[in-house]
Amino acid sequence: MNLPIASLERVGTADREDFRSAVLAGLASAARAIPARFLYDARGSALFDAICELPEYYLTRTETAILGGSASEIAQRAGPGCVLVEFGSGSSVKSRLLLDAMPDLDAYVPIDISREHLDETAARLRRDYPKLRVEPVSADYMALDSLPAFINGARRIGFFPGSTIGNLTPEEATAFLRRARRLLRDDGALILGVDLKKNSQRLHDAYNDAAGVTAQFTLNLLRRMNRELDATFDLAAFAHEAFYNSIEGRIEIYFRSLRPQTVTVSGRRFAFAAGERIHTEYSYKYDDDGIAALAASGGFAIAKTWTDPERLFAVAWLQAAA
Ligand code: TRP
Repeated sequence: MNLPIASLERVGTADREDFRSAVLAGLASAARAIPARFLYDARGSALFDAICELPEYYLTRTETAILGGSASEIAQRAGPGCVLVEFGSGSSVKSRLLLDAMPDLDAYVPIDISREHLDETAARLRRDYPKLRVEPVSADYMALDSLPAFINGARRIGFFPGSTIGNLTPEEATAFLRRARRLLRDDGALILGVDLKKNSQRLHDAYNDAAGVTAQFTLNLLRRMNRELDATFDLAAFAHEAFYNSIEGRIEIYFRSLRPQTVTVSGRRFAFAAGERIHTEYSYKYDDDGIAALAASGGFAIAKTWTDPERLFAVAWLQAAA
């Protein structure tokens, strides 16, 4: 995309302002938190890709194996001539497993908030799948009300992998599913990747890798605030903290102040107590009943679930319900 420089700068300024106001509001609130979407700047995205390769982080490789094994069955369920709509497509790595198995797809519609990521991914997909129509949509899928009109006739199959649904609270997850249900219409379906409840040590280890990459990923947020918001975080004075809360059924991720300290962010001073935590993200884990309840709350019914032999992860075909 060739935007004139002036408009590129304006986009950059708007993003910066969005980051600044979210951080200042998040640090001023009683339960301090910074929205997780700010973890994914260029360095954060690269660190996340590295997390997906870690021995402890079983999610990505397990889901990939499940998708590889079920792709032809998924293609059969979808039928010919449908449109595959991915919510939060990133670099569309997992979608390729489905695209390879679905040669009769009418179009692939990747939705992502990062236009840069989206344009690059679309270009690469068009090169690798010359017969496939790729129609990227640059949007926040949590606030998207309609899909491009050209796909009007085709059956719509949604794809939401990576247990990203787990990074939403149950209320947000229901709201997302209801929105997806409307976008995908009455004959549509959603292919959903969900991390399963399991031994809490296994869960703990996935978010506390021995090499410390997940810690770097969390602390990259402080680095980003220093760079973009003129903040003065001492990276050695904060630590990554992640643990499984078995009552809530979720991993909770924070950065924690290791001593009493004052930090300036964009000209404002914030005092942190020793041990104080600032929340960045949840990762909810589900069991079969939880997935079924979630699906029903969003207007779907589970038609089929695929899992791995250890039952670490599930991919579910959610059929739009009446
Ligand atoms: N959805 C994935 C998960 O919950 C990815 C993810 C989000 C993640 N935030 C993270 C992974 C923080 C590691 C650390 O696991």
